[in-house]
Amino acid sequence: MTSTLLTRIGELTTNVAADGDPCGTLHDAVVVIEDGRIAWVGPVAEAPAADEIVDAGGRAVIPGFVDSHTHLVFGGDRADEFEARMTGVPYAAGGIRRTVAATRGASDDELRARLAGFVAELHAQGTTTFEIKTGYGLSVADEARLARLAAEVTDDVTFLGAHVVPAEYADDRDAYVDLVCGEMLDACAPYSRWIDVFCERGAFTPEESRRVLDAGRARGLRARMHGNQLGHGDGVQVAVAAGAASVDHCTYLSEEDVTALAGSDTVATLLPGVEFSTRQPYPNARRLVDAGVTVALASDCNPGSSFTSSMPLMIALAVREMGLSPAEAVWAATAGAARSLLRDDVGVIRPGARADLVLLDAPTRVHLAYRPGVPLIAGVWKDGVSL
Ligand code: NIG
Ligand code: FE
Repeated sequence: MTSTLLTRIGELTTNVAADGDPCGTLHDAVVVIEDGRIAWVGPVAEAPAADEIVDAGGRAVIPGFVDSHTHLVFGGDRADEFEARMTGVPYAAGGIRRTVAATRGASDDELRARLAGFVAELHAQGTTTFEIKTGYGLSVADEARLARLAAEVTDDVTFLGAHVVPAEYADDRDAYVDLVCGEMLDACAPYSRWIDVFCERGAFTPEESRRVLDAGRARGLRARMHGNQLGHGDGVQVAVAAGAASVDHCTYLSEEDVTALAGSDTVATLLPGVEFSTRQPYPNARRLVDAGVTVALASDCNPGSSFTSSMPLMIALAVREMGLSPAEAVWAATAGAARSLLRDDVGVIRPGARADLVLLDAPTRVHLAYRPGVPLIAGVWKDGVSL
């Protein structure tokens, strides 16, 4: 068993809250990694011996990013839609059907190769934990195929058969919801940890959303949800009432929504890549944090509304456009996102946690927002292995 000692860390973000600092920031710190886990955290002067030493040279170390919302199994892209949006065409949920057609037409090996490329892209940008949703199959066989492929690369697979009603069910949406809650759920549940539904005009109604979440929970899946992305609506209330771990987007929130979130354990996951790519207004993260809501940041990487997997970009947008401090944004992209996945083994640097760490080519985490678009990821460890 080899141990690695990461020493001379100028600023270490542990996310173990201390003295009113949720980031648990330490200076001139050391982290010891052993057997894929964090073994020791403390000051340089007290560091134990280890087999291998890595000198951080005064640079910053943070927990690996947790991207708690992605749609990475799909075929094709929709660059033409993005181009049209930039000249004023609004985003609409209906574009999902184009990706469904391209995904159904792709072989397992094509989708697997594409997925492997995305995983490499995530790792290179410091993301060490990621969730993946189905939702571009929308038939029993295709949704099960996407769930199976996603399960090859993550434990956090989300069944999103209720993404939109596919064209072949356009005249009988009840039959489609029955299918999602029955045969499709049966086929996908063995690969999935989560159930999700797109509760939005043009996708699924609050009543349909409740049905889908209930069916998934009855099969032992935990609930998360897409809500309040394109306009005000009941999404947040449905999610909170269902005890969802997270409600994602939260672009349009009423006071009642904020109050409901603040009084619940449901995390508000904000996805600023969507606002960036659809020219929608950014959600006010400050309002949520000030109300006591737990906020997470994720990329929502998908070919329609946000084709980026960059968590540093999400942090920069959350700071510049949504009112979070750099420390709050880094916390939301690590510990907050881990909480939204009900994970306490990632997003934190403490003895016993997974040794998922990022060395920044910068003296502090502030540089993630201060130097947008600059590749600052100098080293990534996943389960203690340097990638
Ligand atoms: O999270 N909102 C629903 N699903 C995706 C968009 C999917 C697409 O446009 O292909 C989202 O934004
Ligand atoms: Fe999404």
